[in-house]
Amino acid sequence: MLALPEEFLHELRNRNEITSVVSGYVSLKRRGRTQVGLCPFHNEDTPSFTVYPDSESFYCFGCQVGGDVINFIRRIENLDYIDAVRFLAQRAGMDMPNDDTYDSSMRQLRMRIYEANREAARFFYAKLNSPEGKKGLDYLHSRNLSDKTITKFGLGFAPDSWSALTDYLINDKGFKPSELVEANLSMQSKKGSLIDRFRNRVMFPIIDLRGNVVAFGGRIMTDEKPKYLNTSDTPAFKKSYNLFALNKAKNSKSDKLILCEGYMDVIAIHQAGFDYAIATLGTALTPEQARIIKRYTNNVILCYDADEAGQKATSRAIEILRHEGLDIKVLTIPEGKDPDEFIRKHGENGYVRFKMLIEGTGTDVDYRLQKLRAGFDITTTDGKAKYMTACARVIAELYNPVERDLYESRLSEEFDVTKTEFKRLVEMIISGNNRRAKGKEFDKIKKQLVTQSDNDRTQKNGRLTRAQKAEEFLITYLFHNPDMVRTVYERLKPHKISEGLNRRLYETITQRVLDGQPSGYGDIAGEFTLEENSRIASMLSGYSPELYTPEVCRDYVDVILNEYDVVSPAQLSEQSNEDVQAYIESVRKQKMKKKPQ
Ligand code: UTP
Ligand code: MN
Repeated sequence: MLALPEEFLHELRNRNEITSVVSGYVSLKRRGRTQVGLCPFHNEDTPSFTVYPDSESFYCFGCQVGGDVINFIRRIENLDYIDAVRFLAQRAGMDMPNDDTYDSSMRQLRMRIYEANREAARFFYAKLNSPEGKKGLDYLHSRNLSDKTITKFGLGFAPDSWSALTDYLINDKGFKPSELVEANLSMQSKKGSLIDRFRNRVMFPIIDLRGNVVAFGGRIMTDEKPKYLNTSDTPAFKKSYNLFALNKAKNSKSDKLILCEGYMDVIAIHQAGFDYAIATLGTALTPEQARIIKRYTNNVILCYDADEAGQKATSRAIEILRHEGLDIKVLTIPEGKDPDEFIRKHGENGYVRFKMLIEGTGTDVDYRLQKLRAGFDITTTDGKAKYMTACARVIAELYNPVERDLYESRLSEEFDVTKTEFKRLVEMIISGNNRRAKGKEFDKIKKQLVTQSDNDRTQKNGRLTRAQKAEEFLITYLFHNPDMVRTVYERLKPHKISEGLNRRLYETITQRVLDGQPSGYGDIAGEFTLEENSRIASMLSGYSPELYTPEVCRDYVDVILNEYDVVSPAQLSEQSNEDVQAYIESVRKQKMKKKPQ
C-alpha cells in the first residue's frame, strides 16, 4: 500500500469534510443526520445519493456506488488514488508529504513507460516496413487494410525473435531492464534472461487521450492461440479505463460513438469512412469506460459481433450504458460474424451498406424486446400472455415517462389490447417494483436479509447468507464503536468470518484497534479498492444508532458463531408475481370472450 503518513491523511480528511467536498459537485439537502442529492454517477430524477457525515462516507442507493471522500474525488475527477489525494491536498492548501520521493518516483516511472512504449511503437512500425516484417505487412494487406490506414493507426510488426525489442531499447535507447518489465514490453524467461513479450505478431498501439502510447495489442497471423496478446495493466495503463481509438474518435465531427468489440472492427469501420468507432480492450465494457464515453457523447451505437457471445455482451453493455443515462442504438450485423467482415464482404459498397445499418438501428429497448420474443412460443395464448408480461417488465424499467408511453402505444397495438390495459399492466409492475424496493429498506432495518447480488459474498441464489448479513452488521457496528472491538474479538476470531472482503475488513479493524491505531472508515478506506469501498459504503448506509446497539451486536456474534459450521442458504420470500399474473389472466379471458378463437 501507499506510504503516505497516517497523520497526513488524517489532516487531509479533516480539512476536506465530505459534505463540503461533495457540495462542490452535487446540490445537497439535509435529511436527518444525512444529506441527499441527485447522484452524479448515474442519471436519476429523485435523489438516492446520500452523504453520511458520521462515517465520512457516501452511498448511492440507485447505482450502488459509494466510498470515502477520496473515492468520491477519484470517481468524479477520474483520478487514481495518489492524484485524488493530491487534488484534495491542493483544495485544502496542504503540501504533499515526501513529494520528491514517492510521488515523483511513481510519476517518473510512468513517464519512462510512456517513452519506452513510444520507442517500441516506432520500432514495430519500422519493422513492418522492413524485409523482416513483410509477412506482417502482407497479413494486414490480406485483411484489406490500406497503407494509409496502417500509418494512421501506427500499426507495426514485432519480429520473430526472442529479444529484438528488448535489446534495442536497452542498448540503443538506454532503458533499464526493470523499466521494460514494468512497461510489460519485456519479461523474464524461464532461464532468467530478459525476452520480448510480443514476438511474431502484428502490433496495434493503444493511445490514450493525451497521445501517450499506453499499451499494445498483438495479433498472431495464424489460427494459433492466443489470437491477441495485450499489455497487462501497468503503472501507466489500466485496460478497464481505456478505449481503443478514442484518441481519434473524440475529434470526429459526428455526435455519436460506435462501440465495437475488436481492434480490427474499429479500424475497418474507420477505413470505410466512419471516424467515430471505438472498442474496449478485450474485456467487457466497464462503468468507468461508460463514464468516459459520456464525456464525449450521449449517443452510443453498439456494434458487437453477431455471434452469441457478442449478443450476450450487448445485453450487458446496454445495462451499463443505460446506467450512465446514455442513449443507445443497437446495430445488428446481418451477414458475417463482425463489422470488419461485413464491410470487407461489401467491398466498394462497404460505406453505403454500413451507413444503411447505422440508419436502420433500433434502440436498446427494441433490441431487448426483439430478443425476448425468441424466448416465448407466441402461437399459444399462454406464451403470448407471458411474452406480454415480459415486455411490460422491460417497459416498467424505463425511467422516462415519454419513452414508456411510446412503447406502451406500440406494444398494445402489437398485442391487440387497449393502451389503457397495457399501461395498467406496466403500472402494476412498477408499483410492485417500488414495493419491493421499499421492502428491501424495511428488511435492512428489520435486520433481515439483503438482496444485492455480489459474487464473492453470496450464495448461488443471489442472497446473502444470514451469517454474512450478520458480519456486515457487526463490521458497521465496529466502525462506529471501536471501544467494543476487544470484547467482540475475544469471542470471534477472523477465520470465522467469511472469506473475502468481510474477513479483510474485520481483520483490518480489529488489528488496528489492538495496535492502538484509529479504525474509523476514513482511516482504512485507502486499503480497499474503489469497488470494495462501494460495498463498504453500502454496509455503512444501513447504520442507525437506534438499531446498532451492543445487545444486537451480541446477537449477531451468536449468529456468526452458530452458522460457522452449518451454512444454510438464507430463505427469503420473494414478492410473488401472482397479482400481475392474475391480471393478465383476466385480460386474456375478456379477450377470449370478445373474439373466440
Ligand atoms: P475477436 O475474436 O472478435 O477479434 O475479439 P477480432 O477483433 O474480430 O479479430 P480478428 O478479426 O480475428 O483479427 C475481439 C477483441 O477481443 C480481444 C481483442 O481486443 C479483440 O480485438 N481479444 C480477442 C483478446 O484480447 N485476446 C484474444 O485472444 C482474442
Ligand atoms: Mn474479426
